[in-house]
Amino acid sequence: MKGKFITFEGIDGAGKSSHIDAVKAFLSDRGIAVRSTREPGGTMLGERIRALFLENSMSAHTEALLVFAARREHLERVVWPALEEGSWVLCDRFTDASFAYQGGGRELGASVIAKLADWVHPEFQPDLTLLFDLPPDAARARVDGRGVVDRIEQESAAFHTRVREAYLARARNEPERIHVFDTRASLTIVREQVLASIAALADHAATVRP
Ligand code: TYD
Repeated sequence: MKGKFITFEGIDGAGKSSHIDAVKAFLSDRGIAVRSTREPGGTMLGERIRALFLENSMSAHTEALLVFAARREHLERVVWPALEEGSWVLCDRFTDASFAYQGGGRELGASVIAKLADWVHPEFQPDLTLLFDLPPDAARARVDGRGVVDRIEQESAAFHTRVREAYLARARNEPERIHVFDTRASLTIVREQVLASIAALADHAATVRP
């Protein structure tokens, strides 16, 4: 595909959302068409699935099936067409979140999630994933400071520890794709590191383009 697919990941409260706008502005300044979106969500149906997902308790299997249903819709209607047109797509969470939350947090295991991923988006994965990492107790303090806490954010410290471990395990297995940022550092430092990763990808894309 002509555009690049960049995903933003991390446990709740790790601080990913604050960097998406900066990346968007950075790429736009370079003349790159950018589209930002999120999962679950990103389409009308996907946003309805997001509301069902966040507002109702359900089995771990149902959670996994819902996020992948929303994902397929999102890929077909938004992500793949945008990438085909040459836009870069910035996505607030993607399949690594399913490995972390449903595979790790809910303990479904990585192999179940890998099967779903292989079926829903065979041979497609992000060009770059930015993983924002923070110890769960510090992340929790940030989430509590926001006021409204959803059902996933309300989960136990043990759940969030499993989520974090699953994310870090994926980063260890795919260090070229998944760049980890320690968000205990100041926002300015993390932002510089993030933009350096994005600049490297943009430079590389510019050199390989015919
Ligand atoms: P999040 O992206 O953190 O949105 P906000 O910044 O508005 O809180 O919320 C989405 C939640 O969905 C988050 O707790 C993680 C969860 N999630 C999964 O459990 N599995 C998935 O595959 C995805 C994409 C998200």
